Amino acid sequence: MFKTRVTELFGMEYPVIGGCMQWVTGPEFTAAVCEAGALGIMSSAMFPTQEEFRAALRRLKDLTDRPFAVNLNLFPALRPIDNRLYAEVILEEGGVTAVETSGNRPPEDLVSMLKEGGLKLMHKCVSVRHALSAQKAGADAVTLFGYEGGGHIGSIATMSLLPRAVDVLEVPVIAAGGIADGRGMLAALSLGAEAVLIGTRLLLTRECPMSEAVKESLLAAGEEDTIPLLGSVHNTIRVIRNQAAERAAELERNGADFKEILAIVAGSNTRSMLERGEVDLGILACSQSVGIINEIVTVREAIEGMVSEARELAGRIARAVSV
Ligand SMILES: Cc1cc2nc3c(=O)[nH]c(=O)nc-3n(C[C@H](O)[C@H](O)[C@H](O)COP(=O)(O)O)c2cc1C
Repeated sequence: MFKTRVTELFGMEYPVIGGCMQWVTGPEFTAAVCEAGALGIMSSAMFPTQEEFRAALRRLKDLTDRPFAVNLNLFPALRPIDNRLYAEVILEEGGVTAVETSGNRPPEDLVSMLKEGGLKLMHKCVSVRHALSAQKAGADAVTLFGYEGGGHIGSIATMSLLPRAVDVLEVPVIAAGGIADGRGMLAALSLGAEAVLIGTRLLLTRECPMSEAVKESLLAAGEEDTIPLLGSVHNTIRVIRNQAAERAAELERNGADFKEILAIVAGSNTRSMLERGEVDLGILACSQSVGIINEIVTVREAIEGMVSEARELAGRIARAVSV
């Protein structure tokens, strides 16, 4: 029922993709997503050296025989990332079905290196203009990421982005941003997407490697409890509204030096926050969909629940329409 060009392209069971999440989607969590029938995307940027990344890739291959992808981070970063180094490891180790690039348009040399190695490419971006450019660069599928989502956002909401993208792209479209249950999944498929990519829903799972205190704080959050941050440096990300985010937003409003803002938004703070449960220490990407996530479940329950809810809803709508 849910076979699409995206499930055919990557070979996963459901048209569901677990988004790359810094400090979260290491090998164990990515494998849990794959084992639940979705396509998991492991982060590369959270492994600072080729050797650490190689070890993570090997561990992931030990944990699952299902298809998986690796993300290459093309966002502006303070620590310059040489993605060719990760690409080298991906090609040397084998077993990777697809590479997702996110952020800027993937450079030509990187695309040809990966394509020659037989990898499928998907690119995640926030506008139709960038999606067309990614298609031209060689992407086999493009993820359109709407304003409601957790992480680096643009200015257009998922509901407006998707049908526009579907109208003009030839490659399949993947929907991201604000999708956290079967209702959102079916809506995205109705708008023409051929898979959904989810992040925030997967944070609130048992397997998610972050402290229970952070999970509880997200569980208590509503749809109004996220804010866009770092627009002042043209790198807007949607994060949960906590003390760190409020402080950084205030500094931005007051035109403070970026060094001051960085002291708050640094990745090391986020990492400590997730590990030690200090919920106000750093910033954490989070979607407006946090408002509809009301329980911590297993990754399998989250994914299968989403798929079966979408399926049931599709049947209900079909029956209502045919009356
Ligand atoms: C905690 C967290 C960390 C994320 N880290 C990354 C990242 O490192 N690279 C990336 O491309 N996207 C990242 N994202 C975005 C997700 O991959 C995905 O696009 C997004 O979560 C989908 O929107 P949703 O949260 O509304 O489901 C992150 C999202 C969250 C919630």
